[in-house]
Amino acid sequence: MKKIFYAVLFVLLLAGLFGCKSNNNVSSEADMSNGKLEKTIIAHRGASGYIPEHTLASKALAYQMGVPFLEQDLAMTKDNRLVVIHDHFLDRVTDVADKFPGRTRDDGRYYVIDFTLDEIKSLNFMEGFTVKDGRRVQDYPDRFPMGKSTFEIHTFEEEIEFIQGLNKTLGKDVGLYVETKAPWFHKQEGKDISKATLEVLKKYGYTTKDSNVYFQTFDFPDLVYVREKLMPEMDMDLKTVMLFAENSWNETYEKTDDGLWVPFDFDKLRTPDGMALVAKFADGAGPSNDMVIDKTLSKKGNIVITDFVKLAHDNNMVVHPYTARKDKLPAYVDNIDELYEAILYQAGADGLFTDFPDLGLNFVKNHK
Ligand code: G3P
Ligand code: CA
Repeated sequence: MKKIFYAVLFVLLLAGLFGCKSNNNVSSEADMSNGKLEKTIIAHRGASGYIPEHTLASKALAYQMGVPFLEQDLAMTKDNRLVVIHDHFLDRVTDVADKFPGRTRDDGRYYVIDFTLDEIKSLNFMEGFTVKDGRRVQDYPDRFPMGKSTFEIHTFEEEIEFIQGLNKTLGKDVGLYVETKAPWFHKQEGKDISKATLEVLKKYGYTTKDSNVYFQTFDFPDLVYVREKLMPEMDMDLKTVMLFAENSWNETYEKTDDGLWVPFDFDKLRTPDGMALVAKFADGAGPSNDMVIDKTLSKKGNIVITDFVKLAHDNNMVVHPYTARKDKLPAYVDNIDELYEAILYQAGADGLFTDFPDLGLNFVKNHK
């Protein structure tokens, strides 16, 4: 009898072991979707290395690859709708010049804010290009063929419903990583893009630090406004990330006491005092790759890191640099795995933005 008892116990233990193994496999997949990988891989504009950036198709592909976060860049339309697009211009990624000739501003650009949502939805959304000698030249020649197939720009609400729908049907919890584009510009135009973004996030249930969302911006004065005024007034408390730009990019402007708009000085934030100030308003820091790895001093096999990650970590901020692209590698690496290694394990970042989320996830999963 005792022998039978131990035999049954042995079988049950074996079954339990195999059961556990299979459950672990499931839970490791779920963990990836919950940001529990050792490093956080963020799908930069979706799986934008494979399908035109910010299309729902690029988000679906990245979702299926297993990322914990999908990025959204937002701009506002003339009729106050939030659309998912990287630039606050339409001309790099659509056929707006064909469909609405003459609707440029003096600088020759077509601004999202000058078009209604209906007008924007009538455009064909495509792989990014630059006009050279009157011809459209695809910026990344090996990516999805420019102008092929059909894609359209969608609203922020549509993307949240898409992700939440997939979370329901696939049983995952993939998060949002939302960037308000050029809040300073929207303010100049009389629009509060950050308030509109928070309203949508609240409507869809993202309200606390535990909500699966990061709110990111390059606009430090606006981040202060979001943290100090908007979130308390709206009874919200989301995780926030301060993005860092080079001053030469003129990424953000701030209003002086005299009412003038002047370029924002990012350099003052990349100091011990500056980083301590940022940490009062941000849970994370988003530097460029060049801010964490010195590209001038780094050589193949000899990566030289900066003090950025340490400064951010000393101030309890996570660090998610942008952007790892296999078709735009810095000179100090031979392939994208070497870039992932340099950013995540040599510089010590907590995660990164990549246009090739499958490659990032594979690298982290297989890292010894
Ligand atoms: O938001 C992180 C990264 O996307 C910043 O660069 O210009 O691609 O929005 P950008
Ligand atoms: Ca972005």
